[in-house]
Amino acid sequence: MRHLPTHKMADFTTLVVGILLIGVVHGQLDTTVCTPYQATSGSPMPPPPPNTFETHIEANINNRNYTVDYHVWYDKPNNRVATHIRNAGARKEKLFRFDTNEYFNVDRDMGVCRVTPLNTADQLYLFGKPVGNTAVMKTPFEFLNFNMSGTSYQYVNKTKIRGVSCNMWRSCNYWPNVKASFIAEHYFSDTNWMTSRLTAQLPVRVHIYGNAVDPDGKKRRFDHMYEFIDFHVQSTKGKSSFPYETPTGVYCPRAKNLKPLPTPTSAFHFTSEVIFGQTISRIKEWYDSDMSLVRYDYDPLGDYTWGTKPLTQVHDFNTGVAYVIDQLRGNCSAVPISSTGFDSRKADATHARIRTAKEFFYFDKGSYIYEGRRIARGIITDVWTAQRNDWPAPNSPNSTWSWYFATSNYTANLADVLSFGNPVRLTLKGGLGQYYVYNIYDYDERRPMIWSYDISKCFNYTSRQDFSFRLAGSYRSLVSGNMELFRYACLRAIVKAGTSNNMNLSPLRVFNIQIDFADNSDIIVMFTLLDKAPQIGSVSNPKPENNLAVVSKSISAAINGGQLIVKLQVPLKNTASMVAKKYSLAQTQNMIKNAYYQNVQTSSSSSGVSGGAMAGMGVALLVVFFVIGVAVTYVYYRKQGGAFGPKKFGDEDITTSES
Ligand SMILES: *[C@@H]1O[C@H](CO)[C@@H](O)[C@H](O)[C@H]1NC(C)=O
Ligand SMILES: *[C@@H]1O[C@H](CO)[C@@H](O)[C@H](O)[C@H]1NC(C)=O
Ligand SMILES: *[C@@H]1O[C@H](CO)[C@@H](O)[C@H](O)[C@H]1NC(C)=O
Ligand SMILES: *[C@@H]1O[C@H](CO)[C@@H](O)[C@H](O)[C@H]1NC(C)=O
Ligand SMILES: *[C@@H]1O[C@H](CO)[C@@H](O)[C@H](O)[C@H]1NC(C)=O
Ligand SMILES: *[C@@H]1O[C@H](CO)[C@@H](O)[C@H](O)[C@H]1NC(C)=O
Ligand SMILES: *[C@@H]1O[C@H](CO)[C@@H](O)[C@H](O)[C@H]1NC(C)=O
Repeated sequence: MRHLPTHKMADFTTLVVGILLIGVVHGQLDTTVCTPYQATSGSPMPPPPPNTFETHIEANINNRNYTVDYHVWYDKPNNRVATHIRNAGARKEKLFRFDTNEYFNVDRDMGVCRVTPLNTADQLYLFGKPVGNTAVMKTPFEFLNFNMSGTSYQYVNKTKIRGVSCNMWRSCNYWPNVKASFIAEHYFSDTNWMTSRLTAQLPVRVHIYGNAVDPDGKKRRFDHMYEFIDFHVQSTKGKSSFPYETPTGVYCPRAKNLKPLPTPTSAFHFTSEVIFGQTISRIKEWYDSDMSLVRYDYDPLGDYTWGTKPLTQVHDFNTGVAYVIDQLRGNCSAVPISSTGFDSRKADATHARIRTAKEFFYFDKGSYIYEGRRIARGIITDVWTAQRNDWPAPNSPNSTWSWYFATSNYTANLADVLSFGNPVRLTLKGGLGQYYVYNIYDYDERRPMIWSYDISKCFNYTSRQDFSFRLAGSYRSLVSGNMELFRYACLRAIVKAGTSNNMNLSPLRVFNIQIDFADNSDIIVMFTLLDKAPQIGSVSNPKPENNLAVVSKSISAAINGGQLIVKLQVPLKNTASMVAKKYSLAQTQNMIKNAYYQNVQTSSSSSGVSGGAMAGMGVALLVVFFVIGVAVTYVYYRKQGGAFGPKKFGDEDITTSES
């Protein structure tokens, strides 16, 4: 049997809820304390306390002149107990998870948590007993050390405790493990006394006093008074399950991860609200790793390289170029993509690459532990927490990352079931005490429309060309009823026609596709073609591109050869193949004198928007971290299935036309 500690903290636990004994009173009982009482017949014992309850226990350790407060949540049906303890100014939390045989010991002041097997935990005897390699939870009466077999309980009288009418029982106890002989007095509220929770016969006080024999053989007097305050039956549903969790933001490495972390999809967009101190900022992000594109819209904060006006950044990792667009002025700068941004990583010393979706969500390092359920923004969420020491820079003090996902009971009003889930919040506690909250809104893992990545402001009349061509046939009503699908179909056809010399035409370069109808039922397609990206990219193998003249020649040749075919597929309806009328390609030129700054820099790591942010004043700039996309999305209709399925709108779809 365990040797119990005899210092302060252990007093309550040792004695009130001590180890269940076999054959309780025997030889070593100190009969100067008490001799077993005669059980009184006729006064029924109170019913056992409910199987779930919450109460405060004020433990007054009279022999040592101090008080400890225990806030206890007890949940027998779910096999768990939580206690918040205030003692000598310190706040602790102990969680007893009998379902998983885990014991969480949390220092709530320091935010430190240790998880050990419950069956060997030193405090197990409070609420349970070890059985083999697991632990079994005590019943409420066992917890109160009342109505234990082998002990007789004498009914004393009705009396008042703190003004409450109570029935009192008395028993004489001996606990061999601590060699304690003591009288226990149990007070339960009377049958006709209603507690504030409209329940009668609840524990009001337990008073124990007697002698214990210390390991050195010395007798020691003790006298503990346990006041049960606000004892109430607690439902185990909904909100109440949350006391059984560890404190928010505390990382509890546990041996078992009860739920795997969701895997992000390759494309998504969302809006995020970033709360740091008393600053609330916004950012919208679009991410597509299949297309190697990222966009984010934000208000500069802390880094005013591009002024203070709202900015849009489009990062094209195919070419390594970051387009920074001032949303109000309308001017643009093209710079190499920084390798230290929230969307990028160093590919090597001088090159950047797009982050994988896992890296984007910071899932790549640190092992995320399923922590349980919490409520965030009124949504019941599943929470995973990890610690890592590479934020904001390598070898930083540990930072704690918690991701909140709406539980799978929630549905999003989207055609597809989210495979990643619905992220609701990220909290980030930096090693130096910085604390960020990212609330994620409008999360949508449908692939953002290609039009979301509009870089046209970065090209003026010297580097853009407007075109139009005509499609013959009587498809007017089909087209006008499915305009976005049709624009996408045109984009695909143009991209295919503009691809030559084994160099793909990037769909980013086909901009502003407009449709009009001629009197003779021809469909007029107008679009703007942008020049190739500036040759400043920071990726190691930028995709080679044909220049404007070569692309327009190629498109012209396709049209003249009857090779530009727009295939419109309307869900559940027909498919139309529309051939561009030969020699219908017309060039127009709108003079757009965009101001265009190209800050070519030699080192990619010192350029771009969040360059140096992580290392230096990473905190303020973190705002730039999470992108949100509220793009209108394009739901690509799966040919085969007839269901709104594919989240993928891969390169093939854009650059090759199906046949
Ligand atoms: C007390 O315990 C005995 C068995 O040990 C049980 O039969 C009895 O119902 C219990 N009394 C109450 C009030 O629960
Ligand atoms: C508790 O307080 C009483 C007087 O109020 C004092 O006599 C006694 O020594 C104190 N006990 C301890 C352990 O401090
Ligand atoms: C009940 O019994 C206790 C202990 O014997 C005694 O102190 C108390 O005065 C009694 N109360 C009443 C109301 O008889
Ligand atoms: C837009 O123009 C302003 C004024 O010339 C300049 O300060 C700013 O950096 C430019 N922004 C971009 C994104 O090029
Ligand atoms: C940092 O976190 C790791 C992983 O949780 C842990 O092993 C390590 O002890 C922590 N270091 C500090 C200083 O807390
Ligand atoms: C959530 O769904 C699970 C199983 O689908 C169900 O057991 C649980 O009761 C649901 N929770 C709520 C709060 O509806
Ligand atoms: C047009 O863009 C080029 C860079 O491609 C730039 O050098 C030129 O100054 C711009 N022209 C005007 C009128 O802004």
